Amino acid sequence: MKNVLVTGGAGFIGSNFIRTLQIKEPLVHVYNLDALTYSGSLENLRGLPDESRHSFIHGDICDGALVDRVLQDHEIDTIVHFAAESHVDRSILGPGQFVQTNIVGTYTLLESARKYWAANGGLDSARFRFHHISTDEVFGTLKPGEPAWTEEIPYAPSSPYSASKASADHLVRSYGHTYHFPYTLTNCSNNYGPNQFPEKLIPLIILNALENKPLPVYGDGNQIRDWLHVQDHCDAIYLVLKQAKDRSSYNIGGGNQPTNLSIVHKICDLVDEMSPCGTPRRGLIQYVKDRPGHDRRYAMDSSKISRELGWVPTHTLELGLRETTEWYLGHPEWVSAIRQQVEYQSWVVKNYEERK
Ligand code: NAD
Ligand code: TYD
Repeated sequence: MKNVLVTGGAGFIGSNFIRTLQIKEPLVHVYNLDALTYSGSLENLRGLPDESRHSFIHGDICDGALVDRVLQDHEIDTIVHFAAESHVDRSILGPGQFVQTNIVGTYTLLESARKYWAANGGLDSARFRFHHISTDEVFGTLKPGEPAWTEEIPYAPSSPYSASKASADHLVRSYGHTYHFPYTLTNCSNNYGPNQFPEKLIPLIILNALENKPLPVYGDGNQIRDWLHVQDHCDAIYLVLKQAKDRSSYNIGGGNQPTNLSIVHKICDLVDEMSPCGTPRRGLIQYVKDRPGHDRRYAMDSSKISRELGWVPTHTLELGLRETTEWYLGHPEWVSAIRQQVEYQSWVVKNYEERK
């Protein structure tokens, strides 16, 4: 790896990944192509380990001519593709942007990358690699007692978000199969940690609890997610880039599978401890109208990546939630810059008003 194109590197996971990569690879230059949609922010890139090895390119992955230029001008040898619309609730209220970014955008990026790779003599995976970031949500939902998903489980997406990600995954694999295009793919579970946009469950609950606002729990709150700390995720992606065989895929899960309600309780207790207000935050919980088509349970079997690449998550949920809560309480400027956006405020009204 020398010149790495990261798409969506101003978002939550992408920005954490750029930090990780800069620390682990002192010679790599990162070209960060990001459209700065509502969830992307240059605030996430402040204080990178080495700013001189990071170039920000403001642009859209759906712009094929731009992607062609970036690949050629910077002699890119590795693409790590995070850019996406990533929030299920938004996909329910407006699926069109998900089809555009996640499907058309991935197609456009793949097509530019394929042409560039072919023009360079079809370099093998030691010299060129396209890594695609996907989600566990492509596998659908699990019933109680069903085993965690392995890489062999057939896709069964159930929201417009997961269907668009599944579609992108199929396109990536089809390029590998048809053109022998060198790719790797990872499906990860729900991430949490610093810099996550506060529309997702964990940062939303931390910040609402801090401000003594209602804590919205969809349905009965007994849905289950497999929480993965973003640093563990970034470490796993790095291992895949360095060691995985061409055209392989890996599931990455945190091995933490509490109910949503239990997550909310833990956060309430942490905020009570770190910022006491006299009354327990658990009293702020409000059960609200459920998400339509809400997947009940996710669980990932990460044994393949542990066995083949030696990856194991290092964050327990206890430690990870404590550190994450501390991070949000310790970064009021980041929080207010993000939450000042009119778009964010109108999203909160749109998503929660109708749930009352
Ligand atoms: P995010 O919403 O925080 O960041 C997405 C980034 O992509 C933003 O910076 C945004 O500006 C950029 N972007 C969006 N559309 C773009 C476009 N057309 N062109 C260029 N840039 C564009 O998302 P995230 O949580 O960091 O997720 C990153 C990836 O990981 C996504 O592919 C997502 O599907 C996947 N994923 C996320 C989670 C999670 O829990 N957050 C779980 C599984 C998989
Ligand atoms: P979310 O963070 O949106 O991630 P995903 O939908 O990709 O799993 O939601 C995590 C879980 O939390 C999911 O079961 C929906 C639930 N949830 C709530 O109960 N209340 C909320 O306000 C939000 C945003 C999510």
